[in-house]
Amino acid sequence: MTKTALVTGASAGFGQAIVKRLVSEGYQVIGAARRMEKLQALQEEVGEDLFFPLQMDITDTASVDQALASLPKPWQTIDILVNNAGLALGLEPAYEADFTDWMTMINTNIVGLVYLTCQILPDMVKRDTGLIINLGSTAGTVPYPGANVYGASKAFVKQFSLNLRADLAGKHIRVSNIEPGLCEGTEFSNVRFKGDDDRVDKLYQGARAIQPKDIAETVAWIASQPAHVNINRIEIMPVSQTFGPQPIYRDEN
Ligand SMILES: NC(=O)c1ccc[n+]([C@@H]2O[C@H](COP(=O)([O-])OP(=O)(O)OC[C@H]3O[C@@H](n4cnc5c(N)ncnc54)[C@H](OP(=O)(O)O)[C@@H]3O)[C@@H](O)[C@H]2O)c1
Repeated sequence: MTKTALVTGASAGFGQAIVKRLVSEGYQVIGAARRMEKLQALQEEVGEDLFFPLQMDITDTASVDQALASLPKPWQTIDILVNNAGLALGLEPAYEADFTDWMTMINTNIVGLVYLTCQILPDMVKRDTGLIINLGSTAGTVPYPGANVYGASKAFVKQFSLNLRADLAGKHIRVSNIEPGLCEGTEFSNVRFKGDDDRVDKLYQGARAIQPKDIAETVAWIASQPAHVNINRIEIMPVSQTFGPQPIYRDEN
């Protein structure tokens, strides 16, 4: 039987690449996002048979409910949930950050991800099968200046993924957290820097960053593991990115 995947954030970046990859593997894929025109363009590219565009705003529980209720029967049983939709807003220190940006990150990266999981997981448990793949970040482990709420939201995603594993003990449902470092070819930094394209270009210049297809490859690899294998966490960085020293700022005496 054809398996069904639901990929959030399918209108851009990783989500789009994950959709294409899973469709090429023979999954039927529901792609969710707010921008329906982008999902429809993706549908034109991958075809109607294995792709279903689903408009939803994951920060709005009513929108998620409505979207899930609108799925036609053959698309209602979700075998793989890829919780990919998410964003960073700003890179200012916490004392200069915009509280509205913080709430948007919390409502998208945490509340949205948790709400969708809460809606999909019970049916997986009833069928005793399923796979949830969350998109965390190295920012959920490695602190850096300006990551404040974004990094904390991804630390939540990491621990939520591990705690799901604890709750699912004895059941045949798998949970993985993919934790990428610097990636280009997505809208992530354009969103973070609010359209400051020069800043975006400078960030990626010469960095040979991770590409969306690398993340799609990782998703496909996790999904292709034998049913008894769970990839708990997988951290991926470009070779150009590594760890910094722990600086000590000294007071002038
Ligand atoms: N790129 C990186 O460097 C990087 C590194 C580590 C982790 N990540 C994580 O990977 C995931 C994907 O990032 P990306 O780089 O592919 O970013 P992206 O190109 O900006 O794509 C983000 C996707 O999330 C969707 N989205 C945002 N808010 C939403 C909402 N309220 N409701 C529904 N969908 C929403 C967007 O669709 P609409 O705008 O159409 O709704 C878009 O499809 C994110 O969770 C991000 O934190 C990215």
